[in-house]
Amino acid sequence: MINQVEQETIKTFHKLIIGDCTKMPEVEDSSVHLMVTSPPYFNAPFDYKNLYNDYQHYLEILRKVAKEVYRVLKEGRIAALNIDDMLVDGEKFPIVADATKIFQETGFRYRDRIIWKKPEGYLRISKRSGVILQHPYPMYYYPDNLLESIIIFQKGKFDYKSIARGIKESSKINTREFQNNKWYMTLWEMTNVLPGSVLEKDIAAFPEELPYRIIKLFSYKGETVLDPFAGSGTTMKVARLLERNSIGFEIKKSLETIIGEKLGFGDQKTMFQTEDSFEVIIRKEREYGYIS
Ligand SMILES: C[S@@+](CC[C@H](N)C(=O)[O-])C[C@H]1O[C@@H](n2cnc3c(N)ncnc32)[C@H](O)[C@@H]1O
Repeated sequence: MINQVEQETIKTFHKLIIGDCTKMPEVEDSSVHLMVTSPPYFNAPFDYKNLYNDYQHYLEILRKVAKEVYRVLKEGRIAALNIDDMLVDGEKFPIVADATKIFQETGFRYRDRIIWKKPEGYLRISKRSGVILQHPYPMYYYPDNLLESIIIFQKGKFDYKSIARGIKESSKINTREFQNNKWYMTLWEMTNVLPGSVLEKDIAAFPEELPYRIIKLFSYKGETVLDPFAGSGTTMKVARLLERNSIGFEIKKSLETIIGEKLGFGDQKTMFQTEDSFEVIIRKEREYGYIS
């Protein structure tokens, strides 16, 4: 029985909603098994100007999303956010602390915080500390940031007995991979997506390794993974690779084609089995609609 389940390839569905994720009427209550996302920077490019007037407005939006995520997640399940504090005009905005508070106030239990460390070579691209080389005096110090956080929340208690034996076995974590790649620590060293990659151009995409670890550690095959801020569709792609279903929300309509391609529903269909389905819903309403 177990071997049979292992050998069968699971047919998965992937749903992309082009619209604002502060409302998710397309997703039923308690229907999602895991949420993985990286919200936008609150001072993100000009085309979001009307979305995030200022930091307080950004936090209000995060609160609405947290509420919707809580509604759609099944009891016992995990919400993981890749997020980091931001330095704007010499002032650091404590996004990690504020997001943690917001998720706690929404009803989630704060379960863990993992630090993602990028390779030091990354600094060549984004050097802040260089100021002190030009002005080698006190008060010019701004260290280069190599770190981001992954904060992990849980909705209630997980019933370990609710998973069928076959699915449990086929979703087993490879303990060699777990140990060799040091998943056991609160420090994850992962290479970031380098600027210049074609599909992720102008999108602050996270590396596939990030949703890969979270999906493997916190969901079973055939379950559904949600990314409310889909971007280029990294979470959805990895969910498909790992035989999970996915639901993504993305407010920028222009990303629809990129997401489809990244998931393998464009020209690169050969990457995956073809019976998987891909549905795109484009919201018509103005209030929670999309921006082009
Ligand atoms: C940091 S990017 C996500 C990148 C993604 N993790 C990836 O690997 O490509 C955040 C995305 O959220 C989208 N976004 C911002 N506000 C949104 C909203 N209210 N609803 C849905 N998507 C939103 C942005 O357009 C952007 O593509």
